[in-house]
Amino acid sequence: MDQVKSYAFDRFTDRDRQAEIRRLHTQATLLWDRELTVLTSLGLPSDQPVLDIGCGPGFIAGGLAAFNSAGSVTGLDTSLELLDIARTVVLPERPNLMVQPGNAYATGLPAAAFQFVYNRLIYQHLDEPSRALQEAHRVTRPGGTVCVMDVDDAWLTVHPTIPAFDTFTALACRAQAANGGDRHISRKLPGLMAAAGFHEVGVTAISVSSLEIGMAAFLDITTGFKAIQIDTEDAFALRDRVGAEVEAAEEQGPVFGMVGVFFVTGRA
Ligand SMILES: C[S@@+](CC[C@H](N)C(=O)[O-])C[C@H]1O[C@@H](n2cnc3c(N)ncnc32)[C@H](O)[C@@H]1O
Repeated sequence: MDQVKSYAFDRFTDRDRQAEIRRLHTQATLLWDRELTVLTSLGLPSDQPVLDIGCGPGFIAGGLAAFNSAGSVTGLDTSLELLDIARTVVLPERPNLMVQPGNAYATGLPAAAFQFVYNRLIYQHLDEPSRALQEAHRVTRPGGTVCVMDVDDAWLTVHPTIPAFDTFTALACRAQAANGGDRHISRKLPGLMAAAGFHEVGVTAISVSSLEIGMAAFLDITTGFKAIQIDTEDAFALRDRVGAEVEAAEEQGPVFGMVGVFFVTGRA
């Protein structure tokens, strides 16, 4: 299986694994009602085969399976360890969900097999997004939908300015790029989708802010994984400084954080 450098869960330390599973769970549940509303408006079916590429521990695949109760959901991921968590935690409650190892670039799945193909927070880690889009197109039924959900750091902001947050996010952006990832993937996806042969390419953007989820959760989902990714002791110290600077700023007045989430869709 191709090596995944930008997100390699199997190389995290034990402590980082626990923290990352918690972060993925928070990130999956905090937004789910709004996310599901967007996904149904974009064509998520309730009685057809659905594929979740880069499903990780399966929290989202489980939500897709609950909605798509008269259909089936297949979750695919390169991380055997994350798939094990999905098998242990999510699958027992969702008989219409199955998970299997596989790579976004070459899924090994049959052509034209799925009505809806979801890709959540995986494209920012792919060094060949066009190749993955071609594969997603191949496994989607003609007329079916591929949806890529991801972020773009242009829509990541905190007010008032927290210098450690800006330094930390810039460092993380460079570290992810050095590993083949791209924190500015969302702005590129519409063009990449059109080039991969999709029709009716569209973008739906929502914002997630500290007003809805609280500043602690906002900092967790926007900085948690990045310290692991930068992978130096300094990065963890810098992340702690973000928390300290936010606390100091909150003594002067409210601190607001916002991140944009983009759903880019195309019809096969
Ligand atoms: C940030 S996690 C997101 C997990 C899940 N989609 C969610 O939103 O909770 C990114 C996931 O993409 C997976 N991944 C990265 N590159 C991949 C590839 N080339 N093929 C399949 N999965 C990949 C990682 O193993 C990881 O589970």
